[in-house]
Amino acid sequence: MSSYIDLARKTVLSKPVYNPGKPIEMVALECGLDPDTILKLASNENALGPSPLGIEAGREALADVFLYPENSAYFLCKKLAEVRGVIPDQLVIGHGSSEIIHMLCAAFVEPGIDVVMGEHAFIAYKLATLLHSGNCLEAPLVDFRHDLNAMRDAITPQTRLVFLPSPNNPTGTSNTEAEIVEFARSLPDHVIFCLDEAYAEYIDNPPDLRPLIEEGRKIICTRTFSKIFGLAGLRIGYGYCHPDLADLLHRVRPAFNVNSVALAAALGALDDEPFLEKSKATNTAGLAQLTRGFEELGLDYVPSVGNFILVRFQDSDRIYTLLHDRGIIVRPLKGYALPEHLRITVGTEKQNRMLLEALVEILAN
Ligand SMILES: Cc1ncc(COP(=O)(O)O)c(C=O)c1O
Repeated sequence: MSSYIDLARKTVLSKPVYNPGKPIEMVALECGLDPDTILKLASNENALGPSPLGIEAGREALADVFLYPENSAYFLCKKLAEVRGVIPDQLVIGHGSSEIIHMLCAAFVEPGIDVVMGEHAFIAYKLATLLHSGNCLEAPLVDFRHDLNAMRDAITPQTRLVFLPSPNNPTGTSNTEAEIVEFARSLPDHVIFCLDEAYAEYIDNPPDLRPLIEEGRKIICTRTFSKIFGLAGLRIGYGYCHPDLADLLHRVRPAFNVNSVALAAALGALDDEPFLEKSKATNTAGLAQLTRGFEELGLDYVPSVGNFILVRFQDSDRIYTLLHDRGIIVRPLKGYALPEHLRITVGTEKQNRMLLEALVEILAN
């Protein structure tokens, strides 16, 4: 008798499984702790919780969940077009921006196709490429920053996609607008450039590639409602690009891929200026608080512009476990080939203080 494994596509078997940050409920069970006392600093979520206007709109949409969602996301696309200064036909809404990454690979990757990415870049690019039997060409980073010359050099005639996250997760580093524009302009015509802007709202003046999209360069920018908008659990993100590319992505997009509560909440959250401002300010203060604390502890960290920081420990496994046992969840990074590092999400002032106090105690022993 054949097993499921015998019958599966070989690429499915060789593809690594995504390892997310541990959920609060699981750590509470494992450690016998009250879930309310657990501090999750593992998945770069918004320390302030969800956008209140987003939640209000999502709650109202619950009454209609017996209906299928609006498949074209008409109202959200209309609103996003205003916010981003594009036209609705340039937008594709995904079940998280991760789904846009998967749609790109579904549309362009097959055996023999190369996809270029940075060595310690957000891991979804690799997983999506492997799922579609493509080759991952990983360019080394320099000082934890994407080296755009190395990425350009990695491009082959078989390359169809190049992924650049700026800021990158897990390093927290970014490239300048001038570097990214110059890189985008230098790419050959057979390559589609995806600029992943998941953390763009945390930085001042994120790069603007819309003029290059207008010029006809093959570019897509992706954004998410999971980070600064605080809607990670609803799974909604989007890409903006040339209408011809959007049209192609709609062909691989599963019907009704985004639920109606998420669509409504995203629409509400886009209007939540005060929440966005407060979230950004809290993050800026939190980054300063944590980096000061790490310096006082003599810890090596990578200066970050995201809502998380990469910190190196002599014994990261032990530190991870000791924090976990106290109910503080951070992110180990073996899957990113960074075994000595932990990634720590920026919390509120109180949460950051709790983390630093725990580290002081742990490192003293
Ligand atoms: C750089 C980067 N891009 C994309 C995503 C995907 O976010 P989502 O699928 O929740 O929109 C993440 C999530 O952590 C990320 O760090």
